[in-house]
Amino acid sequence: MAETKQSLLSWLLPASLPGTPQEYFARLPVIDTPRLTLRRLTMRDAQDIYAYSQDPEVARHVLWDAHRSIWDTRAYLRFILRQYRLGEPSSWGIVARDTGRVIGTIGYMWYSVDNSTVELGYSLARERWNQGLMTEALNAVLAETFGVLRLHRVEAQHFSENPSSGRVMEKCGMIHEGSHRQRIYNKGDFRDVELWAILRRDWEKLHPPEK
Ligand SMILES: CC(C)(COP(=O)(O)OP(=O)(O)OC[C@H]1O[C@@H](n2cnc3c(N)ncnc32)[C@H](O)[C@@H]1OP(=O)(O)O)[C@@H](O)C(=O)NCCC(=O)NCCS
Repeated sequence: MAETKQSLLSWLLPASLPGTPQEYFARLPVIDTPRLTLRRLTMRDAQDIYAYSQDPEVARHVLWDAHRSIWDTRAYLRFILRQYRLGEPSSWGIVARDTGRVIGTIGYMWYSVDNSTVELGYSLARERWNQGLMTEALNAVLAETFGVLRLHRVEAQHFSENPSSGRVMEKCGMIHEGSHRQRIYNKGDFRDVELWAILRRDWEKLHPPEK
């Protein structure tokens, strides 16, 4: 019974303490970059996200399948909103300020408390590729992760056949740490994966804290 009460409570209230990563994940602040606003997602974003998530080219190099209907997008959003509620790692919506539409997402795949490490993942609508937008978003999230969350290490992975994602990581100062042969079974095949990471000391070297 006590357990039921506890889970009911954690459903209603963010189970987070002020100042902790859990509290940060629960509130995900708004972040402005020159061309983008990163903000929490809402159910009202379903149509924008569906518009690009149904594109097989966008889904080709991510773990999820192209959305077959808006119900897939709504299920994704319900998952994200639950993560916010529980203070678990989740994603920002990437809003293009020229149109006010959500054109992608970027966020935390997991968080290891013991290792002070997160993994990041992202995706962007196809008509917005190769304009430097994800580099802008990733730089902003790295600045938050090291500057505000004060974590030690950030990882990201991409399928080997998706070099543009590796280029985004490289442009943000991440280091290629290795290739993993056939590490992930996805879309009917065992696929090779590239692992990249950046440490807080690497980030601070690139972006010295203001004195
Ligand atoms: C991967 C992705 C996030 C890149 O976002 P983006 O906003 O286009 O990235 P940027 O414009 O900041 O940078 C892309 C870089 O890749 C380069 N690039 C593009 N195609 C490339 C290719 N086939 N091989 C190597 N580099 C390539 C671009 O020239 C650019 O580098 P440059 O600035 O030195 O010229 C975007 O293509 C996407 O969302 N793809 C679908 C989902 C996905 O793959 N997500 C990542 C999963 S790990």
